[in-house]
Amino acid sequence: MDVISVIRTKRDRGELTDEQIDWVIDAYTRGEVADEQMSALAMAILLNGMNRREIARWTAAMIASGERMDFSSLSRPTADKHSTGGVGDKITLPLAPLVAACGAAVPQLSGRGLGHTGGTLDKLESIPGWRALLSNEEMLSVLDGTGAVICAAGDGLAPADKKLYALRDVTGTVEAIPLIASSIMSKKIAEGTGSLVLDVKVGSGAFMKTIEDARELASTMVGLGTDHGVKTVALLTDMSTPLGLTAGNALEVRESVEVLAGGGPADVVELTVALAREMLDAAGIRDADPAKALADGSAMDVWRRMIAAQGGDPDAQLPVAREQHVVKAPSSGVLTRLDAYDIGVAAWRLGAGRARKEDPVQAGAGIEMHAKPGDTVTEGQPLLTLHTDTPDRFEYALQSLEGSFDIGSGADFTATPVVLER
Ligand code: URA
Repeated sequence: MDVISVIRTKRDRGELTDEQIDWVIDAYTRGEVADEQMSALAMAILLNGMNRREIARWTAAMIASGERMDFSSLSRPTADKHSTGGVGDKITLPLAPLVAACGAAVPQLSGRGLGHTGGTLDKLESIPGWRALLSNEEMLSVLDGTGAVICAAGDGLAPADKKLYALRDVTGTVEAIPLIASSIMSKKIAEGTGSLVLDVKVGSGAFMKTIEDARELASTMVGLGTDHGVKTVALLTDMSTPLGLTAGNALEVRESVEVLAGGGPADVVELTVALAREMLDAAGIRDADPAKALADGSAMDVWRRMIAAQGGDPDAQLPVAREQHVVKAPSSGVLTRLDAYDIGVAAWRLGAGRARKEDPVQAGAGIEMHAKPGDTVTEGQPLLTLHTDTPDRFEYALQSLEGSFDIGSGADFTATPVVLER
């Protein structure tokens, strides 16, 4: 087999055979196919697409590139969730302990921030002492002991995706439905969860900007999961505006702890409880009430044990950025729009995200929002507080906030639901 003929097949809108797919994924993982050849193929896939058979085979080949985990020794059913990425999306933090408090085991292999979207591991690393990197044995032991674990995927899990994802990130080939679906599902299937709830984000702050694209991505992923024996459901959820009132690592941990303490912003609570219900249902647990487990402190108990089991101090002071800058409301009225993408880019520029893979993130950097779409604001009141350790970043962040919100009479404002479709 030679890579040029595989690239030419897709470049000329042909269908890749099973043999071509198996070979190219294996050869790329082993380093026989070069990055520049794989990026040409990824671009051809982005431009010309793949049919369901090709996507299924591509996903199976990525799973086969590494090891598979096995949770069959656990006494509880496993349930996992995956978000396609958004701004202020801290849901995994309260959700994993909540679902564990309701009786499921939650093996939550998570990622780092990508572009303007935040990453669960970066958020949790703002807790002093907390470790994202666990061996497979440590991961099983935390999961068995507390019911939930949030950690980085080991190097052995879907290594083809690790290489390919990093390559896509720098070659403009992230936003391809076949590549996103196979990337997410290869990791989740290799991880060995029994059931999976997908939170497919739609809107300016998401990779899928339209409901039609989000539907196609969701149905492709549900099909892949189902074919591999993983009970999979998907919710399409709004990402036109950030989730909650914070975007940034330590800021989002603080907000998640508020949710676990029975408070927190209504949209974060609503989505956390909706996803928890789906996960419990998929895991066959029908007699638990996630809203009650948030209110009575049992989810908080699991959170504290889970953080401590990974070396973190759940009582430690979270880092606070050295400098703040307040953006005030320029007029009075109703906040009718607050754009998720612009807020995500500004938080990223303040230091909450990285420009290159190897960059460190600032734990305290990010944005606090003092109003959500639909809220009434008064001229001169604080609308956003920007946080960073490096004040020379304020100007750059403020540029991306130009045009990021509208204030009007509110006469034509209609609130967008958090959950758009199931
Ligand atoms: N998350 C992933 O893991 N992969 C993608 O391609 C996009 C989001």
